[in-house]
Amino acid sequence: MKVAIVFDSSTGRTRAAAEEMAEVARAAGHECTVRSVQDADPAEVSAADALCVGSWCQGLFVVFQHATTATMDFIDSLDELGGKPAAVFCTYKTAVGGMLPKMAARLESRGADVTGSFKSRGPYAAEGFKDWVESLG
Ligand SMILES: Cc1cc2nc3c(=O)[nH]c(=O)nc-3n(C[C@H](O)[C@H](O)[C@H](O)COP(=O)(O)O)c2cc1C
Repeated sequence: MKVAIVFDSSTGRTRAAAEEMAEVARAAGHECTVRSVQDADPAEVSAADALCVGSWCQGLFVVFQHATTATMDFIDSLDELGGKPAAVFCTYKTAVGGMLPKMAARLESRGADVTGSFKSRGPYAAEGFKDWVESLG
């Protein structure tokens, strides 16, 4: 399958997590692209068989956590996804609040079937991501 991973990163942790996730996807036999929301082409990402969108966690550490505006705007720029499998992820320090379900709902509003949701406290792929990519077939 062609998997597209897209991320927003300010200081590099989410980028490193996304790059490690791409390696995990390739090790599971998929073709995988990994690009920032600033560089990714929405049409190309929409054309992948499965997609994964991640953001760093922005908030007040215990409340008001959310994905970045650039991440949500990128999701809004995607074509109709017609039930494609998708996942959301974030990196964070203390607590992620409701940001992942909100990202998932936004992707679902583009027609994705969000079947994975992952958070990492550091610059690495979350536990569970390997199972998700392997489940794509
Ligand atoms: C302005 C700001 C707000 C943040 N708010 C939160 C937060 O509400 N909850 C949390 O767990 N981490 C928070 N963090 C920590 C970042 O989400 C975390 O360090 C993340 O891994 C950074 O990713 P990046 O290196 O890709 O930019 C915040 C960081 C900054 C700079």
